[in-house]
Amino acid sequence: MKAMRFHEFGSSEVLRYEDVERPVPGAGQVLVRVAATSFNPVDDHIRAGALAQMLPITLPYVPGIDLAGTVAELGAGVTGLAVGDRVVAMLPLDSAGGAAEYVLVPAESLAAAPQTTELVDAAALPLTGLAAWQVAFELAELKPGQTVLVNGAGGAVGSLVVQLAVDAGAHVTAVDAPQHADRLRGYGAERVVGPLDLAAGPAAVGGPFQVVVNHVRVSPEELAQLTNYIADGGVAASSAGPIPEDPARGVRSASLWVRSDGAQLAELVAKVDAGKLQIHVAARRPVAELAAVHADAGAGRLPGKTVVLAP
Ligand SMILES: NC(=O)c1ccc[n+]([C@@H]2O[C@H](COP(=O)([O-])OP(=O)(O)OC[C@H]3O[C@@H](n4cnc5c(N)ncnc54)[C@H](OP(=O)(O)O)[C@@H]3O)[C@@H](O)[C@H]2O)c1
Repeated sequence: MKAMRFHEFGSSEVLRYEDVERPVPGAGQVLVRVAATSFNPVDDHIRAGALAQMLPITLPYVPGIDLAGTVAELGAGVTGLAVGDRVVAMLPLDSAGGAAEYVLVPAESLAAAPQTTELVDAAALPLTGLAAWQVAFELAELKPGQTVLVNGAGGAVGSLVVQLAVDAGAHVTAVDAPQHADRLRGYGAERVVGPLDLAAGPAAVGGPFQVVVNHVRVSPEELAQLTNYIADGGVAASSAGPIPEDPARGVRSASLWVRSDGAQLAELVAKVDAGKLQIHVAARRPVAELAAVHADAGAGRLPGKTVVLAP
């Protein structure tokens, strides 16, 4: 089968489109014919070797943590799935493998794909959806009626956090560049503002807020200024660096390290099919162009969430 792999860490140029053995599912595994994977910023960090200490991987490595595809073969002991089922998964970061024709998936990572989206676009959901779910409901413990600031709201994770928070009955202030504003209003954000002027403080955007969610990679000093946006007794949740706590005001903070969870993914899929969660795909690119996708991401040229189509 065809797969995109890298044999050493480095720039996007280490990615090679190669012929590799089609894998065979072991006990508890499912072989999935890939329809698409998607690009996530962490793919860039893994390929560059920036996570090599924290996340040991075996080389050569097939990137692509997200998966949408159809079941091709079941390993021993796998029940509840049949060949031909449309599925999605967040693959384990240390083995990944979505940028290929076929990939092995632990059965517990899989969920049925949404029925209301094209299968390839469903590849935009797993990692970002799980990140959004875990930020909103595990780290921030979001409750109906709370006020929430989402920084980086127009991005892949932020867009889903805004929608989950609105669906949960929260009052959302969405922060991102103006080109995202109409879409964010469409998701139900009550206030949509441009990038924060941290010197102006929270009152300028209707804060402080009971929950502050951050998806923008900023300096430690800027993260520290975000603490001022959290109301007394409130909480911060960040996917892009820790926001300091303020124990004197009862302000706590948590950082995300997203994990695969088939059951949570099934809940996200149900929200997509119920029309409560829209998957925003900005571009579709063939996997043979993955090196260019990584290069474009590194240069800030990706137009937004990009799904990567299998051969
Ligand atoms: N730790 C984990 O487990 C985990 C999991 C998932 C994601 N992440 C991290 O979370 C971050 C977000 O991921 P993503 O996939 O959502 O990335 P993304 O799609 O690039 O989203 C980032 C968003 O932030 C916006 N932005 C940039 N600078 C801003 C500013 N100063 N103020 C307001 N908005 C600004 C961007 O706008 P433009 O499009 O206009 O540039 C974009 O909409 C990344 O750093 C990623 O590595 C971490």
